[in-house]
Amino acid sequence: MNQSLPGVRVLLGVSGGIAAYKAAELLRRLRDAGAQVRVVLTANAERFVTALTFQALSGNPVRSSLWDEAAEGAMGHIELARWADQVLIAPASADLLARLAQGRADDLLSTLCLATAAPLAVAPAMNQQMWAHAATQANLAILRSRGVQVFGPAAGSQACGDVGSGRLLEPPELVAALAAARAPGELAGQRWLVSAGPTYEDIDPVRFVGNRSSGRMGFAVAAAAHAAGAQVTLVAGPVALPTPHGVTRIDVRSARQMREAVLAAVADSEVFVSAAAVGDFRPAAVAPHKLKKADGDSGLELSLVQNPDILAEVAARSPRPFVVGFAAETEQVEAHARAKLERKRLDLIAANEVGHELGFERDDNALLLLWPGGREALARTDKGALAQALVARIARLRAPQGARP
Ligand code: CTP
Repeated sequence: MNQSLPGVRVLLGVSGGIAAYKAAELLRRLRDAGAQVRVVLTANAERFVTALTFQALSGNPVRSSLWDEAAEGAMGHIELARWADQVLIAPASADLLARLAQGRADDLLSTLCLATAAPLAVAPAMNQQMWAHAATQANLAILRSRGVQVFGPAAGSQACGDVGSGRLLEPPELVAALAAARAPGELAGQRWLVSAGPTYEDIDPVRFVGNRSSGRMGFAVAAAAHAAGAQVTLVAGPVALPTPHGVTRIDVRSARQMREAVLAAVADSEVFVSAAAVGDFRPAAVAPHKLKKADGDSGLELSLVQNPDILAEVAARSPRPFVVGFAAETEQVEAHARAKLERKRLDLIAANEVGHELGFERDDNALLLLWPGGREALARTDKGALAQALVARIARLRAPQGARP
């Protein structure tokens, strides 16, 4: 039999919900896939299913309490947390998701989730109204931002008579999802460098020249590249965004600081994606004290000098990484972007139209990807999906000719 989880030590957590009965079948399927499985039930799970079932199917003692002296004597909860290569909670109830999001440790399963270094996957199952609730969705967003994998739920008819989203995925689907999540990503072993956000160029201690870039596109590219297996360094201008899970972040403020950070990391990188909106100009001098109105009685002239072009500098290096630029254009998007691709000698440019409420400070966007001899238009969608498509295109362009689909 082709085993998709050979030797993987899976800690299967079962929380309280009618779908708990499916966890027994899941346990069998995990073992068929080659996994070694130990089971932890929550107190509420034990109202739906018995430890005996899981003990017989797993061949190992089943635990449900933090305070079981005999069990702690055999394999303490910290040892159990260390034993696991993977934690899978199926079904994960709304209450359990809330407790995980809060980082609570008030029973054995939640404690194990805090104490383990193993990746955590959850398969939610609950009534569709509970699933759709803003509180549940906010908890999931927190868990996702910490790198927790979320499998499902599926839509369909529910045990409570409702129809909607909230059904536990079927055991074979869960095993397949777990195996896929553990497979090394397409970009495994690659190092990517991404820049994001605006730059701020100081005028005096309280004022600066900046721009409206939110950093969302670059952060989404960093997250997508990491999700595909790359080791990602993100050089970020001043933005109010959380660091994507697993990504190394370097914060900078000005274009010159960004240049320094990029040049320090670029020699080690196979791909450089320059998504930052680098300010083209900075004040010729930074006033040491706050400028007073009196300093500019008849108006104030700000003298600006040009900033280094980080993207062009990286593209001019030899050897150089695969270089991807962005172009924000207000008109003739394709013609201007193609000219920029050639002028800066880029491998790929991602162009978008800005202005008229497009582009900046939004969650969605449309992109036109151009490279020597090719183009791909990505229709308007959320920046996460665009970033995935961009990362996939980069991977395809870098793949050896024969391997390109
Ligand atoms: N860029 C950069 N350093 C700069 C300016 C821009 O690295 N000082 C990068 C951006 O990260 C982006 C691309 O260059 O990837 C955008 O270029 P843009 O500023 O639009 O191009 P310019 O050649 O300056 O053209 P324009 O005349 O449109 O300003």
